[in-house]
Amino acid sequence: MNSKHRLAELRKALADVIPEAKLETATLPGGGGLVLTLLQESYPQHLLDSDALLRIMNEPLYWAFCWAAGQTLAQFLLEHPDYVEGRRVLDFGAGSGVVAMAAARAGAGSVVVCDSDTLAQKACLLNADLNSVDIEVIGQLSELSGAVDIVLAADVLYDRSNLHWLAHFFQLAPLVLLADSRMKDFACEGYRLLERRISHTLPDLDESEEFRAVSVYLGQRSADQQGTV
Ligand SMILES: C[S@@+](CC[C@H](N)C(=O)[O-])C[C@H]1O[C@@H](n2cnc3c(N)ncnc32)[C@H](O)[C@@H]1O
Repeated sequence: MNSKHRLAELRKALADVIPEAKLETATLPGGGGLVLTLLQESYPQHLLDSDALLRIMNEPLYWAFCWAAGQTLAQFLLEHPDYVEGRRVLDFGAGSGVVAMAAARAGAGSVVVCDSDTLAQKACLLNADLNSVDIEVIGQLSELSGAVDIVLAADVLYDRSNLHWLAHFFQLAPLVLLADSRMKDFACEGYRLLERRISHTLPDLDESEEFRAVSVYLGQRSADQQGTV
């Protein structure tokens, strides 16, 4: 399947949920020229009836947005390429693949993206093509072959039941960079706050200040944590 076919499939998937909306190529602010295929900035929210809202809740089109934490982590990697330079990186819960694209641009040795949503996998491949970067795509962590040096994850803690991933990441790599705008109070051994930034989702969902505040954490595996989770 080539980019043309992937784009056609993504357009159809979007039309099934929000018939009036379109995809467009958006440039990531502060993203060193990275571009992503996203829901159009001016999508007609006012035309959404209750059926459409229900379809969006049931089939969230995560890949059609660049989430606030994804935007932040992508910018962070471009400013601090040393975290990924020459390394094999994994972008877990990749969505549009924004973090993976930034890691590749920042000089990662190789980039694996993992997303359980097959449409997100197609969006990642389409966006990789648009940005002329190479990625490997998997649908679940059990498909990962070999070790990775660092796990990258942005806006994947939207549900408390996802918190167990934080410890699991240390089974995959000694280092984790996590950006999150949802979970304000998690405590997991090995993680420390690096910085906080104000960001927003693209297209802008006009979310509250609370969800625009993104925290970036560094996770460092201790000797005890290796293979014990
Ligand atoms: C809110 S989106 C974040 C996307 C992207 N990281 C960003 O910041 O723009 C969360 C993503 O995690 C993916 N996801 C959820 N559960 C997953 C799982 N068990 N394995 C892999 N991906 C998963 C979803 O499909 C979705 O694309």
